[in-house]
Amino acid sequence: QQVGWDVDSAQKKGFDHFMLKEIFEQPRAIADTLRHYVDTDTLTLRRDRMPFTRKQAVLLRQLTIVACGTAYHAGMMGKSLIQRLARIPVQAEIASEYRYSETLATENEVVIAVSQSGETADTVAAVRKAKKNGQRVISLCNVIGSTIARETDAVLYTLAGPEIAVASTKAYSTQMLLFELIALDLANLRGELSDEELREHLAELLRIPEKMEQILAQKDMVKEFTRRMKDCEDVFFIGRLMDYYSSLEAALKLKEISYLHSEAYAAGELKHGTIAMIDDTTLVVAIATQESVLEKTMSNVEEVRARGARLLLLSDHEIAVPAKAEVWAVPQTFDAFAPILTIVYLQLFAYYMALQRGCDIDKPRNLAKSVTVE
Ligand code: G6P
Repeated sequence: QQVGWDVDSAQKKGFDHFMLKEIFEQPRAIADTLRHYVDTDTLTLRRDRMPFTRKQAVLLRQLTIVACGTAYHAGMMGKSLIQRLARIPVQAEIASEYRYSETLATENEVVIAVSQSGETADTVAAVRKAKKNGQRVISLCNVIGSTIARETDAVLYTLAGPEIAVASTKAYSTQMLLFELIALDLANLRGELSDEELREHLAELLRIPEKMEQILAQKDMVKEFTRRMKDCEDVFFIGRLMDYYSSLEAALKLKEISYLHSEAYAAGELKHGTIAMIDDTTLVVAIATQESVLEKTMSNVEEVRARGARLLLLSDHEIAVPAKAEVWAVPQTFDAFAPILTIVYLQLFAYYMALQRGCDIDKPRNLAKSVTVE
């Protein structure tokens, strides 16, 4: 299968904006990326395309993920996935911090750089620092032959195709997918996940594109909701664990393109101050997909509801819905894979909010697609 791009894929093809087109391309981007790394007949990973041998996987003691912006949020998902499934300690670091920090390179540690463009100056610098420390560096890139792809020991490409809109969408979901595959592979190689369990997980991943389509089919509902919410003054996204990382990405997406003030909060942290800001001009978007903390998140939802906030809830579980809350049902999947679905709703939400507010969606002010200078 080809990893290259063609001219067609760089056109708007009837969509009003590149961002919307790219949101809608995600089922295809996920399916292409899956087909590249997974043998769909045997439901196994293609060994020659995965970055660790069994021996390397067993010896691995620590992973450090470096990235900027949206790619950093994918890195936080990677941390969660790898720790949860493969039980290897992982840290995710912002590349502009990592490059100047007093990093302690440890033995049998591998660094993973994540970058759509493969050209972000801070991420390039982080890669060079790790290489200088003698570490093995793996990259997840979307642009073939980019600086980071060339300078790292192994590169895993996201097969998202060209991403033109400044706000990253399909690159993010395919980066998350690569972390899911890496986490599953490491877990299997280290004996944390049986071959049968691996097959079950891969089979579920193959169902993700279809589940994404179900969310995309709700676009008019999302648009209608944003019409009612466009006058709100602040948007808070709350969630726990991976839902917190989705919150970070959702808040960034909304700020980037709609210039509306938004913040992401680990749901349990709200009460330590910022809950004071919540009133009926605030929209709180609660993400509740992680079974282990579902009740905890729902009690935080109750706290904000009691303060008069407008409420939107995203969940793939049976939950008791608070009065007057809007609920968007996320198709059911394994908890570890839920973020790749919820983000589609959150991208559509950011897009339609920006549209209601008359913003230049594909080229937001003061932002560049690729930041190649410090
Ligand atoms: C810029 C873009 C972001 C992107 C970040 C990292 O700030 O506006 O959308 O997430 O760079 O880009 P990269 O190409 O390294 O993923």
